[in-house]
Formats: sequence, C-alpha cells, structure tokens
Amino acid sequence: MKLTPEQRSQFDRDGYLFFPGHFTPEETRTLTEAVPDLYSRREAFNVREKGKDAVRTNFAAHLISEPFARLARHPRMVGPVTDLFEEEVYMHQFKINGKMAFEGDVWQWHQDYGTWLNDDLMPTERAMNVAIFLDDVSEYNGPLMFIPGSHKKGVVDAKHDLTTTSYPLWTVDHDLIRQLVDRAGGKDGGIVSPKGPAGSMILFHSCLVHASGSNLSPFNRVAVYLSLCAVSNHIRRFKRPEFIAQRDFTPIAMLPDDCLLKPYPVDTPWQHGLPESALQTSLDVIDEATTA
Ligand code: SIN
Ligand code: MN
Repeated sequence: MKLTPEQRSQFDRDGYLFFPGHFTPEETRTLTEAVPDLYSRREAFNVREKGKDAVRTNFAAHLISEPFARLARHPRMVGPVTDLFEEEVYMHQFKINGKMAFEGDVWQWHQDYGTWLNDDLMPTERAMNVAIFLDDVSEYNGPLMFIPGSHKKGVVDAKHDLTTTSYPLWTVDHDLIRQLVDRAGGKDGGIVSPKGPAGSMILFHSCLVHASGSNLSPFNRVAVYLSLCAVSNHIRRFKRPEFIAQRDFTPIAMLPDDCLLKPYPVDTPWQHGLPESALQTSLDVIDEATTA
C-alpha cells in the first residue's frame, strides 16, 4: 500500500495519518480473540497497572501469537511505512496496550524517539509508530492525544518518570506542553485525538508528542502499537531487555493482503515462554562491523 502525495504532505505537516476502519471487523476479531490468552500469562512481557492485575502493556506478541505475527507482516501496515522511508524496516517494538475499562491508567506526555535515543542508541528518528485499535475508541475510553506538528521540534527535553505509573517513561514537562499546544492552535486544534471503530490505524512520527488519559469508562481500549525502524537505523545498544527493544534487524517480509484471514505460516519462537537471552541487558555499544 502506497501513500498519496496529499497524505505525504499531511504527514509531514501534522506528524500523523489516521485511517478509520483500515482493517475489517472480521480481520480485527482474529487479533482481539488472541488477547485474553496473552494477557493471562504470568511472564515478564506483561506489565500490569500499578497495584492492579489489569495488563497495561504486553510486549512482543508477534513472537508469541500467530495472529499478531501475521499482523506484524501485514502489507496494509508495513507498506505505507516503507513507502515513506523508501527503505525496508524491522520491528523495533511490539506492544498491546490494555487501557482496560475502569483500570487503564494515564500515559504521560512524551515522545517515543526520546526513549529510543536515550536507552537504545537509535541513531535517528527514522522509525514509525503504528497504532491499531482492537476496540472502538471514543472520547470516553482514554483516546490517544497528539499535539499536531510537535514532531518538527525534534527531540525535546524530557525527564525519566519512574513513579507516576507502573512503566518508566521519559516525559515532557507541563510548561513545554503548554507552549507546544499554543503553537499548534491552542484550544483550536492544539490537541487532537483520532477516534473510530476497532480496526482503525494511525501512523505517527516518532517525535510526535502524545499522551492519553485514564479509562474511567466501562469500555476497554485495547490497541496494538508497532514501532517499525528503518533497517539502517537499527539500535546500537541492548540496555533494555529484548522483549522490549527487539534485536533482530532482519527486514520485515510482507505477507499477502488476506494474511489475517488465512493461516499463512509464521514463526512464533517465544510461544512457550521467553528465552533467557530476551531478559539479558548490556551497556556495550554495538560495533557496526558485527551487524554489517
Ligand atoms: C504509548 O504512547 O506508548 C501508549 C499510549 C496509549 O496507549 O495511550
Ligand atoms: Mn508512546
């Protein structure tokens, strides 16, 4: 799938593109049905909400569950990203965020590339976030919020917040958020939150500043977040465990467009649990020669 010139200039201006109903209800159901089994596992790859049992984020389902392994190779998801980067991509991070009814906690204002640079030594911002809704998203269940155009600021100042939620995050302080929202139009378009049915997809720039509120509604807001990195831009350090920041820089080989509906063979090497290596970390900087 390729982007139109209008979509390219919109992405450049706003830092995101929204595709409502991008995957059909039948396609989306194959994913939604696989979530309870993943969330039920007592493994390091399930991060639970602070003081609760509800899953906040599940990592690396593309190596554990066949439907998600197929999604990770879907041409309607990967195609527009390779088109924009004019380069093949690998999977840097794969999450299924719960934001469960009544329990889902906030995601503070942040940029993703800040973390990828600081923790993983990813050289440049040539990596894309893709969000795919597995539930309908409304104003009630904690929709993602963006500050349009904030990606143009590059990497902004951030502090490592280890206390607000159960997941450490490099967060942007409120004064800077105020300035960025003002610059984007203040009350008139300074914050947007794409909402739509399950199966909708958002592409957003790795420097776009974003956040989401808690979910006080009785409606779950499960969504997949895939981070695709241009192969030449692969991370240079394994400071975070492999289930969080992937170490396989092989370009994604796309499957046919009907891959969520037909059982194309895919590998799920971590389906019976994480290997010891996926938990190991290091502060060494990767030598280019070893990855060439
Ligand atoms: C994220 O930024 O990684 C998650 C945001 C959300 O799930 O609302
Ligand atoms: Mn994020």
